[in-house]
Amino acid sequence: MALELDTFLLRELVAAIILFFITRYSISSLLKNPSRKLPPGPKVWPIIGALPLLGNMPHVTLAKMAKIYGPVMYLKMGTCGMVVASTPDAARAFLKNLDMNFSNRSSDIAGATHLAYDAQGMVFAHYGPRWKLLRKLCNLHMLGGKALEDWAQVRVVELGHMVRAMYESSKQAGYFNIGDYIPSIAWMDLQGIERGMKRLHKRFDVLLKKMIEEHTATAHERRGKPDLLDIVMANRDNSTSERLTLTNVKALLLNLFTAGTDTASSIIEWALAEMLKNPSILERAHEEMDQVIGRNRRLEEADIPKLPYFQAICKETMRKHPSTPLNLPRVSTEACEVNGYYIPKNTRLSVHIWAIGRDPDVWENPLDFTPERFLSGKNAKIDPRGNDFELILFGSGRRMCAGTRMAIVLVEYILGTLVHSFDWKLPEGVVELNMDETFGLALQKAVPLSAIVSPRLSLSAYAS
Ligand code: HEM
Repeated sequence: MALELDTFLLRELVAAIILFFITRYSISSLLKNPSRKLPPGPKVWPIIGALPLLGNMPHVTLAKMAKIYGPVMYLKMGTCGMVVASTPDAARAFLKNLDMNFSNRSSDIAGATHLAYDAQGMVFAHYGPRWKLLRKLCNLHMLGGKALEDWAQVRVVELGHMVRAMYESSKQAGYFNIGDYIPSIAWMDLQGIERGMKRLHKRFDVLLKKMIEEHTATAHERRGKPDLLDIVMANRDNSTSERLTLTNVKALLLNLFTAGTDTASSIIEWALAEMLKNPSILERAHEEMDQVIGRNRRLEEADIPKLPYFQAICKETMRKHPSTPLNLPRVSTEACEVNGYYIPKNTRLSVHIWAIGRDPDVWENPLDFTPERFLSGKNAKIDPRGNDFELILFGSGRRMCAGTRMAIVLVEYILGTLVHSFDWKLPEGVVELNMDETFGLALQKAVPLSAIVSPRLSLSAYAS
């Protein structure tokens, strides 16, 4: 009898404990998330998920899908979940309201492993002390306002070399291939597949090692005016807190090469292509520059604020041809909720910068190239520096592009000089300019731009 009672009580106790945990779990998940409904998205394959659906122009495919499934869309990509934000409001919800939760990068992607020393640099680093230190050093000694001012004369000299070389070649053949002049790393075929990346990584490693050795040997020549590499190398010896390894330094240099070269040059190439396609825009830019600068000297960085039409051309190019059409992936640290949908922990976030720039609810006739849209009305105040979610080609929030200021200076100064110093025409026989895109580390023109250039300033402007 007593044994039966014990068994009965034990059974009751176990049932009560199970019931307690089930109820607690249900109540807490109900409180935390009433529906746990994932955002809508396409039906995908088991195991491989949406990967085979994306094709070789994933930004175009994802933009088409977003038209069906909405501004916050969920896809399974292999084993991990990905959420895509495709309107300014959706981008704001993630990059502003939930910025902290999405301040880590997803580092398990091939680029981070093979082209960034296993996320040892800044771009793919976790949000933490190493990332903070690298970002601070880059800002102070290379990418921030003061550092950019300090290096202004170097840009003048370098651009002088480029303009002179272009002037000489225009005298000979007049034929100009932009890729020959604007620094680009496209020749390294970075959008190649993983095997290519591994091979490339070895070549980069040899190059970076040599660069660091040479730089260390000549550090005494820059005493009093150290550059970024001198500073990060010094940190390795002197730091009392976060200490950088040689791999961190190499990864940082590689980050700056890959993030900073093709991105800026592709904007310049697209802007020139749009102007060749719409010669009246080039003409209006020339008129404005002739009034403000004249034809007896080259454009200077200080002229740019006085050239509103030219600045509008730059913004219009950034809207229509953002270099990184899909933001560098971030990842959620905790589960969260957006627009009533449940976003699990460890979900990758992709902000669809390209689709936002072409959203017909935001931009009138988004496929046209119309710089005038930035000259008046509410668009006149839109700025690409991460606060206006209609134009976020540099991303936004804590992980926003560290090179934003530098990129804007480079694009405006190089493009402005190219436009002011030369007349641009399509090569003989080319009637229609090919404006197809090719998806890679930066969104490039599928067919590189070729044009005929002729000098338009007085001879002395090309000599200095
Ligand atoms: C037109 C040119 C450029 C574009 C469109 C561009 C775009 C971007 C974007 C979209 C991101 C991700 C932002 C986010 O997650 O919210 C990024 C990150 C980054 N960019 Fe740029 N970028 C450009 C030029 C540059 C330049 C010139 C440099 C430096 C030399 C640079 C260095 C970086 C770095 C280091 C990061 C990672 C920042 C971090 O994770 O904290 N970029 N860039």
